[in-house]
Amino acid sequence: MALTTAPRVRSDALPLRTFKAKGRPSAIFGLGVHAPARVLSNVDLESLMETSDQWITERTGIKRRHIAEPGTTTFSLATEAARKALAAARVKAEEVDAIIVATSSPDGPFPSIACRMQDELGAPGSYAYDILAACTGFVYALEQADSMIASERADTVLVVGAEVLSRMLEYSNEYRHTAVIFGDGAGAAVVRPAPAGAGFKAWCLGGDGRGYAQVTAGNVPLGAYAAKDERPIIDMKGPDVFKFAVDIFIRQAYAIAQEAGISIEDIDLFVPHQANYRIIEAAARRIGLPMERVAVNIEEYGNTSTATIPLALHDAVAAGRVKSGDRVLLAGFGSGLTWGAGLLEWA
Ligand code: COA
Repeated sequence: MALTTAPRVRSDALPLRTFKAKGRPSAIFGLGVHAPARVLSNVDLESLMETSDQWITERTGIKRRHIAEPGTTTFSLATEAARKALAAARVKAEEVDAIIVATSSPDGPFPSIACRMQDELGAPGSYAYDILAACTGFVYALEQADSMIASERADTVLVVGAEVLSRMLEYSNEYRHTAVIFGDGAGAAVVRPAPAGAGFKAWCLGGDGRGYAQVTAGNVPLGAYAAKDERPIIDMKGPDVFKFAVDIFIRQAYAIAQEAGISIEDIDLFVPHQANYRIIEAAARRIGLPMERVAVNIEEYGNTSTATIPLALHDAVAAGRVKSGDRVLLAGFGSGLTWGAGLLEWA
């Protein structure tokens, strides 16, 4: 049964900020994805640590993840996905006004991946930068693209989520709760002014730094650099993050639907951050959305942080599950803690 009143809010939960899209509306016009060819199955992991295909499948829904060869750059995955998105949107690189790359696994402190892509793709003069909002990064970046188009500061924005998270994984018993979850991959979207009626309608973005230590890579509280931690390893408080994730998906869905003036039943496709099938399923059930209206491809890629939403959206579009006029809810959460959701009417 769909929610008709505000969901119960946990006593420590922060209020959600929602925004109606204003100005010139924007929409997604082309998607591109790229994942490394090498696949690590659950059965492969059984020989690296004490785990089993059954445990991973039942606890997470993940069957495989794509893992980059050592030495692979996040930049290279990002660029492959971007080229495909530009081709799908029939947009030339020279037409791109801005490139925003969301990543949790940059190749280094600076320069940005976006600047390197600007040169590689041939988008001279476009403004280019990376953002860090962990797994919520792709939604944050989309919202920035929407703002640029709304305010007429840009007509064509390339938004990318790309990760080589395997650099920060350790395939050992100590880290089996994270090693089995994450994978590598990239997804990109071309954002442009929407035709009449279509485009992003509302946003919900936020963060709760009190949860800073819940999903980390490297020393807490110093951070990897200050601690001279050369290979930060991803760690997390799994059960705590699980509860936060279900809660924030439900609250965001309700808040954004209210901001956009629609009801939950009007959502045709929910594209959640793919962190754990059980999180997605529990949230969808409590929101009141049947799984036929939820995009899930976690079995193939695992959690690719900023890349999960474009990967899942791309696969849903490729499968013919999204048509013009459909209302699509993109929603994420991640380290920080952060969260973000965007509601759009497909162009
Ligand atoms: N294989 C086998 N057993 C494992 C395991 C693995 N890969 N990982 C953990 N376990 C074990 C634990 O050691 C624990 O054993 P114990 O009871 O003997 O101590 C048991 O499984 C239960 O651990 P717990 O952490 O409570 O499991 P869980 O059911 O919460 O599942 C996660 C663990 C990580 C899959 C789950 O908590 C999760 O997905 N959380 C959300 C994380 C998330 O979304 N992170 C991304 C943020 S963007």
